[in-house]
Amino acid sequence: LTAYISRHPGGAKNILRICGKDGTSTFEGQHGGESRPERTLEGYFIGSLN
Ligand code: HEM
Repeated sequence: LTAYISRHPGGAKNILRICGKDGTSTFEGQHGGESRPERTLEGYFIGSLN
């Protein structure tokens, strides 16, 4: 999400606080069910961790 940090409408701070860790629950807590944030996030998908 590095390229998105400065573009996030909810502020850079909210992305920086989940850098380097699993941000799933933080993201879901804020944006779960919201189509625009979910579509944006899909665009940054790299791959799944085993
Ligand atoms: C991790 C990936 C994230 C993505 C891709 C993302 C994406 C977005 C998008 C697209 C918007 C604009 C929504 C709209 O105008 O329809 C937004 C707004 C916002 N985001 Fe995020 N977001 C992320 C993480 C977070 C996190 C972790 C938080 C806080 C815990 C957060 C807090 C906010 C806030 C406060 C807004 C502004 C209010 C709102 O429009 O809901 N975001 N985000």
